[in-house]
Amino acid sequence: MDYFEIEGKNQLFGDITVSGAKNAVLPLMAASILNDRALTINNVPKLSDSMTMGNLIKEMGGEVSFDVSSITINPQNLNIPYAPYKLVKTMRASFYVLGPLIAKFGEAKVSLPGGCAWGPRPVDFHIEGMKKLGIDISLEAGYVIAKSKKMIGNKIVFPKISVGATGNVLMAAVLAEGDTEIHNAAAEPEIQQLCLLLNEMGAKISGIGTNILNIQGVEKLGGVDSIDVIPDRIEAGTFLIAVAATGGKVTLKNVEPKHMESVIGLLRKSNIDIVEGKDSIVVTSNGLNIKACNMETHEYPGFPTDLQAQWMLLMSLASGNSTIKENIYFDRFTHILELNRLGCDIHLEEGCATIKGNRSLIGADVMSTDIRASAALIIAALCAEGSTSISRVYHIDRGYDKIEEKLAKIGAKIVRKK
Ligand code: UD1
Repeated sequence: MDYFEIEGKNQLFGDITVSGAKNAVLPLMAASILNDRALTINNVPKLSDSMTMGNLIKEMGGEVSFDVSSITINPQNLNIPYAPYKLVKTMRASFYVLGPLIAKFGEAKVSLPGGCAWGPRPVDFHIEGMKKLGIDISLEAGYVIAKSKKMIGNKIVFPKISVGATGNVLMAAVLAEGDTEIHNAAAEPEIQQLCLLLNEMGAKISGIGTNILNIQGVEKLGGVDSIDVIPDRIEAGTFLIAVAATGGKVTLKNVEPKHMESVIGLLRKSNIDIVEGKDSIVVTSNGLNIKACNMETHEYPGFPTDLQAQWMLLMSLASGNSTIKENIYFDRFTHILELNRLGCDIHLEEGCATIKGNRSLIGADVMSTDIRASAALIIAALCAEGSTSISRVYHIDRGYDKIEEKLAKIGAKIVRKK
């Protein structure tokens, strides 16, 4: 199994081109099922998660070809509305195919995604939303069996904002008869891009980027040849935090600063110098006078939960103590034990982490527990005295496109070993 060897205490200088967003490409790939022709998706990150979604679409009969940084999906022969456990279990986002399959075929059999490293992450909102559209849903042996003679638009109120449920229900509602209103819809840029693609295919979605989406059902969709995936704001945020922590000066290219206002705002509050360009960001830090700031995760446009672990590491190096409250996933804290192994001093009480600042980190053997936790460990290792070995890097390969190459290019001493 691959692992990373990292020598710490190097500042980072140079530039990095940010990849396309993982959380955008997966729903776009699912939406390609609704197109009537081959869709080429450009600026695709090379990740095991994009491959998993591609393999799932192939398994259902679609033609999928990968190029250097694009994927072309032709759904014309896709005729098996069945997503097996062996693929869905490795990636929760595979569940995104339920909406487009039921909309296109009137039936679908999709495995439940199962648990994950931090909590159960249920799919009840997806299922309740589909039922509201008149879809008949039953659960059999770990599978969702969905059937619908005719979907009828309805008012759907999610108990709380969910990215996945919004995307999934939306991809069914676009082909329902009549109007659908989704309340507590996700406003994340990745969901905005999904809405824009569906509209280009002929859907009628309004309220994009707000928490209420209105969908006027249409009879068929199609006609789109290509789309470029938006830049990955989580990957970009990870690099901003890395440079803030190690010190240095780095230009991020291919970014969308307006998707990152909460992150940029908090970094500035912590004394990190950020200059925004049209599609670039320059971050400068001496790694020494980082100010402690409390943080709470929130849905977009709030501070993203996917940068919580990385922020926690940064606050361990800040000049005072701070707190983090996780509002999206109450138990997304598996990284605390591993960060503490490297010299952090973080305590968790009732969903709120208290982080002692001014910590000096020392390299150690640590283990990745999920995609973003691994990113926090890498940044910690870059700041630690001596060498750190990070095992189970398959987690990071799910969400970061060649992270070790990008970091090595700006001066990090990081190598992948087998
Ligand atoms: C997506 C992102 C993930 C990010 C998360 C929150 C993708 C592929 N993944 O995950 O990186 O961390 O948004 O920004 O885009 N919930 C339920 N029932 C449901 C659905 C969700 O209770 O049916 C709860 C979840 O447990 C969680 C909250 O709603 O507490 C938000 O989860 P959700 O937005 O659905 O996350 P994902 O779409 O899985």
